[in-house]
Amino acid sequence: MEIIIQPDAEAATAVASHIVSQLLRNKPNAVLGLATGRTTVGLYRVLAQMKLDWSGVTTFNLDEYVGLPPEHAQSYHTFMRENLFRHVNVSPENTHIPDGTSGNIVELCEQYETQIRAAGGIDLQILGIGTDGHIGFNEPTSSLASRTRLKTLTQQTHEDNACYFGGADKVPDHVITMGLGTIMEARQCLLLAFGAKKARAIASTVEGPITSINPASILQMHPKVTVCLDRAAAADLKRADYYRWAYANKPGWQKF
Ligand code: F6R
Repeated sequence: MEIIIQPDAEAATAVASHIVSQLLRNKPNAVLGLATGRTTVGLYRVLAQMKLDWSGVTTFNLDEYVGLPPEHAQSYHTFMRENLFRHVNVSPENTHIPDGTSGNIVELCEQYETQIRAAGGIDLQILGIGTDGHIGFNEPTSSLASRTRLKTLTQQTHEDNACYFGGADKVPDHVITMGLGTIMEARQCLLLAFGAKKARAIASTVEGPITSINPASILQMHPKVTVCLDRAAAADLKRADYYRWAYANKPGWQKF
């Protein structure tokens, strides 16, 4: 794991956008795994401003709320359309987000896995993290080997996302999410976290034990993970000085 601590979210986003843009320049037909949420809004804005060529890019989103149609204001279809897709030249047929209104979720999840495999697998998976340590919507106690499936959101996630729905009780209870096993098959992962509320989850993910109670901790088993943090999200890391030193003294051959 490479831990990159920047003074603020803007600087951490700049580092993350550099990683994504390098991939798109080096591999015009890259397959990107995409996350939604506050953390990624700035990243997508910067990427859109870069005027990259997305015409050959394929995308797979991590998750969607069950029961929300694509045109719903809080669906992740809407989030992606508004924050990224309508600003870049990605082909709509190359973008994939689970259909939260599917009448056969089991089949849909199997198809999603098949589609990812058929696209050649995910080159770079962008991730945010929940205050309870979820990535995608793999909530605590998710199987570390899980695949795309239906999950039930925790009370914590209901509360964290209450502002979008006008109350925790109005947040959908169920979601379709890529599994931890699915995420772990991406060739590279890029985890972003900003703000003091994420500090505990980040410390457990980077320095804690690997446990399904903190699902993001499975990333310790991934061979290529970059974690981009602002100072507040890094506040509980015991070895922050080492991560800072390692990044500042990164040898030229190791730079992206
Ligand atoms: C959403 C997703 C989630 C979010 C996480 C953080 O697609 O994958 O894991 O990344 O809930 O959300 P924010 O960025 O809103 O704090």
